[in-house]
Amino acid sequence: MSSALHKDGRLNPSMETTNDSGNESIHDLIERRVVSRRGFLASSIGLTAAAAAGGTVLDAITNSAVAAPAYGPAPSPTGGIGFTSVPPNLAATFTDAVTVPQGYSARVLVAWGDPLDTSTAWDPTTPMTEAQQLRSFGSHTDGMHYFPFPGGQGNVRGLLAVNNEYCDPPLVNGVSPAADYTDPDFRVTLPMVRAQQAAHGVTIVEVEKDRNGVWGINRRSPFNRRITGNTPCLMSGPAAGHELMRTAEDPTGTRVLGTLNNCAHGYTPWGTYLTCEENWNGYFSNETGDVEGVIDIDRKFQIIKGQTRYGVVKGGFGYRWHEPDARFRADLNPNEPNRFGWVVEIDPWNPQATPVKRTAMGRIKHENAQVVVGADNKVAFYMGDDERNEYLYKFVCAKRLNPAGRSTDRDMLDKGTLYVARFDVNGTGEWLPLVHGLNGLTAANGFRDQAEVLVKTRQAADRVGATMMDRPEWIAAHPVTREVYMTLTNNSRRGNRPPSSNRVDGTTNAASANPSVDAANPRPDNDYGHIIRWREHHGDVGATTFDWDIFVQCGDKATKKTLGSTYDPKGHDGYKGNIVGDDYGAPDGLWFDKDGRLWIQTDQIGNATGDWINIGSNVMMCADPSTGETHRFLTSPRNCEVTGCISTPDGRTMFVGIQHPGEDWSSAFTQNSTWPDSGVNGPTLHSHEGPAKPRSGIVVITRDGGGVIGT
Ligand code: FEO
Ligand code: CA
Ligand code: CA
Repeated sequence: MSSALHKDGRLNPSMETTNDSGNESIHDLIERRVVSRRGFLASSIGLTAAAAAGGTVLDAITNSAVAAPAYGPAPSPTGGIGFTSVPPNLAATFTDAVTVPQGYSARVLVAWGDPLDTSTAWDPTTPMTEAQQLRSFGSHTDGMHYFPFPGGQGNVRGLLAVNNEYCDPPLVNGVSPAADYTDPDFRVTLPMVRAQQAAHGVTIVEVEKDRNGVWGINRRSPFNRRITGNTPCLMSGPAAGHELMRTAEDPTGTRVLGTLNNCAHGYTPWGTYLTCEENWNGYFSNETGDVEGVIDIDRKFQIIKGQTRYGVVKGGFGYRWHEPDARFRADLNPNEPNRFGWVVEIDPWNPQATPVKRTAMGRIKHENAQVVVGADNKVAFYMGDDERNEYLYKFVCAKRLNPAGRSTDRDMLDKGTLYVARFDVNGTGEWLPLVHGLNGLTAANGFRDQAEVLVKTRQAADRVGATMMDRPEWIAAHPVTREVYMTLTNNSRRGNRPPSSNRVDGTTNAASANPSVDAANPRPDNDYGHIIRWREHHGDVGATTFDWDIFVQCGDKATKKTLGSTYDPKGHDGYKGNIVGDDYGAPDGLWFDKDGRLWIQTDQIGNATGDWINIGSNVMMCADPSTGETHRFLTSPRNCEVTGCISTPDGRTMFVGIQHPGEDWSSAFTQNSTWPDSGVNGPTLHSHEGPAKPRSGIVVITRDGGGVIGT
């Protein structure tokens, strides 16, 4: 999210600048990388045919074959990219709508607060209640996956599993003007907080296309379900039950209430959904700067530094949950934050199944989890930690996939090896294992066992010398070749002076270092972000080395902005970037369709001013990974983020998320946007009454005549 609750500058008031690093990340080592992008791409010639020959990742989505014939660079998309770009949504002519190319339509499918059953719909002119929210679509939609129904219905009927990342408390609680919520004299009550917590989590909803070709949600479906900030979840894997996971409410350290800040997502080849906990730190507050019940000074220091390494600070992001709900007091319940920051596995087909937090995959601010299955049935998940100067991770399952049966694979995510990436100047990289006893991950350095390595994943990565990245967001894998792409959305601290690194002893406050530019993050003051990609050596998803290059430096070719004199102007493309085609910035959502088109979604402020005056509102782009050619496919309402993208298996229906339209705590949200109840993208439950407040929602995109989206 890029929101009023999570402005970069507010997250960590402590701005550390000391350079006391022992971290051997590559910014300490390099001038410029030597492998050119052209050289990296040369070997892609001839692989187009392979793209048509078979599949891995998409087949895994539909739970069919997982074998793949090819490994290498992504070829041109099968069927090409055939639409005409939509113009940018600029301030002078701003349209409060989702706009798609001529010949396409975008209609609202479901929005925050729409009932998931046949009961009465919420009246958006009134505050949301916990009871109403528990049976309604959650707030601020984000990553999502489509699980097709079996038996030939899959292209017209399926389950959408959707993350509900966060909420704007004034919208949920009906506080207007919104800024009143920040007034210390404003009393935040437990029922208000419970309604907000119920707006978080995951929504599972059955969707179907009717006889008229119109998609809708099935309110009578037994699969419809909400998982919220208070839903009982299990912990599993090496950290489950560990001392660091135990609380007064849960002495077993295995049961936790809820999942929070479910940003992007993943899926597994065995048919489950993964939801990833991102900015969970913002709900906690350490009110006193102390830790209740811990006398040992060293221990206390370790706990408090552990909290600040993840950005748990006084006040959090301003949700104020800790005021009536002491679970979110990190000084009183110092282990409760340890129970967040995980990948959570959910069986969408079993509404009674308990969500499971898989600790073997590490505790970070998880963006998404992209699976890649090798030709030998090894399974890897790639995961980014979205904060300035954080890292890229890979989890390789110990067991190989059993393609024949799902039931035997239920513990696949509990055993395996977690790695963190180091990008080297020569265009190769190494996956560094985060395994207790290796690379200094020992008791002497604060890691008593593997559970502690996992709870303190960031500190472990600091210790082994991972490369600090410009905010790792989504990761996507080509459906055939297994080449992997990752968005790096921006980094306002890259290249700042004096330079500093995340300290090797793990005591750096979150996002407080000033990393120098390096080969993998070549631009100082990286406002517009970039996309990096890699290929595992020998085509082995379990490899410990890889090749990489930068796919694109995003930017604005027409910008008049120039780099400040304190920054090094050499060796990069500056704010103009090097996009081939339509400009965009702040890449976040990333998804490959079945034909190998790369869809890129953006998350900037969305008001078409400042850095975005020529780029306009947030967008969804479509890129050819072999040429870099990029076209603007979708523009969005004001102050929203475009996030979440998935299609039906035939590629003819696409679902796209529109998050936090109109968000602006300095004014009324409706001043900026009345989407979707203005009816501009089709009727909603409330469009006949007129809009009361903007609502996050999902649009269905189809092509006139029913063609494949993007061709
Ligand atoms: Fe929730 Fe990193 O975006
Ligand atoms: Ca984001
Ligand atoms: Ca995101």
